[in-house]
Amino acid sequence: MRRILFVGAEALPFAATGGLGDVMGSLPCEIQKAGGSDVDVRVIMPLYKAVSDSFRAQMQTVYEGSVYLGWRELYVGIRALEYKGVTYYFVDNEQFFGRDGKLYGHYDDAERYAYFCEAVLSCLPYIDFVPDVLHAHDWQAALAVVYLNVKYKNDWRYGRVKSVFTIHNIEYQGKYDPYILGNTFGLGTEHLGLMCYDGCINLMKAAIECCDMVSTVSPKYASEIKDPTYSHGLHYQLIKEHSKLRGILNGIDYDLYNPETDPVIASNFTSRALSKKAANKKALQKELALPVRDDVPLVALISRLVSHKGLDLFTPIADKLLEDDIQLVVLGMGDETYENFMRELEERHRDKVRSLILYNRDTSKKIYAACDIFLMPSKSEPCGLSQMIASRYGAIPVVRETGGLYDSIKPYYETEDGEIHGNGFTFANYYFGELEERTNAAIALWRDKAKRKKLVTKIMKTDFSWGASAQKYIQMYNELF
Ligand code: GLC
Repeated sequence: MRRILFVGAEALPFAATGGLGDVMGSLPCEIQKAGGSDVDVRVIMPLYKAVSDSFRAQMQTVYEGSVYLGWRELYVGIRALEYKGVTYYFVDNEQFFGRDGKLYGHYDDAERYAYFCEAVLSCLPYIDFVPDVLHAHDWQAALAVVYLNVKYKNDWRYGRVKSVFTIHNIEYQGKYDPYILGNTFGLGTEHLGLMCYDGCINLMKAAIECCDMVSTVSPKYASEIKDPTYSHGLHYQLIKEHSKLRGILNGIDYDLYNPETDPVIASNFTSRALSKKAANKKALQKELALPVRDDVPLVALISRLVSHKGLDLFTPIADKLLEDDIQLVVLGMGDETYENFMRELEERHRDKVRSLILYNRDTSKKIYAACDIFLMPSKSEPCGLSQMIASRYGAIPVVRETGGLYDSIKPYYETEDGEIHGNGFTFANYYFGELEERTNAAIALWRDKAKRKKLVTKIMKTDFSWGASAQKYIQMYNELF
């Protein structure tokens, strides 16, 4: 039996801020299902204050002791619970993780995640789970791969452990001043070469170099990150290591995102009973005090309001799109410029636009269920989950052909005999004219009821479940042995 340990900074439903949490909360269970008795998948993450009391009440303490990081001796507790058939371990340390507010973005993140990674490695023999594959996710877990290679490999208990490092977003690499190498990371100057890139410590670079396999969350992104346009400086490293780079498309949790059973939406529906989707639109229009009309296309944008999500393509065309008879609902937070733009857009078009400058999962689901057209014009998108969720909830996606958007949404066209191809509207260039043109094309299609029904039914039936991808992860693990 192959033992796999996922190491990462967040997982749904315990504590999450973004797509990484979705993946850490659903992929382990899917791999477990796909692998059956051939695999034993477990997960380890920090025990943040945000983890609810009801989960805490289910936890068992499996280890308590000390972790040594540089010159410091620090407390560690390992708690465990079972969730959807998978054991989740939590690293408990009040000083680092018992904080209110955000999960990361604290002044001492370097130390917090160095501690986390050291705690993971040093505790494995005590929790009796030294894995065959240590699978680390994103920069917060990068040091687990590094410590395994530079500190633990000589210990016979860890000698056979292979490692995989998954990049969910190459933009966040964990970059620090080389000065903190010894004090914060507990590493000697002999490791400067490994740890440094472009003049600073770069945790992601070091993990890419140390691991046995690097993966990222879509095939297209795996090829894009070898190009300086997308690599945020790391292309040299990835070109060097290209033979161990893989791209596996994420899926979405089909239980969590299911319009047929979702308890938070106004009316459950399926691709066979599309008319029921309309009740969700009506409910949202009412809730947001927009004119309640079935014949107007409802366009949605649910995103972090930052430029790389394509906001700088959307802002120049927003007023023009709104000259047409449409409604627009925006949900998200981000840069002040975009937040203010959205507020002002609503002011200018009170009868057509609602800008909700917040993030809330339930609200997002109500919008997915209500909207007709979903915009995602990202500049880069490692995988992207929203386009898949929107599709499952019967919205027509309009996306830029990048990363996972390219891999999951194929351009719609209809042949002369009426056969339809593709599952959305896509454009190639990062140019606002193309977004405008494709959005208008999607709106025009939506107005043609017969065509709409055919396309939306096809979109809703597109398979975005984890099944195939979970198999690909198992194949990747097998390649390591
Ligand atoms: C990151 C990426 C996103 C991806 C998610 C899960 O949040 O930005 O594109 O879907 O990770 O892998």
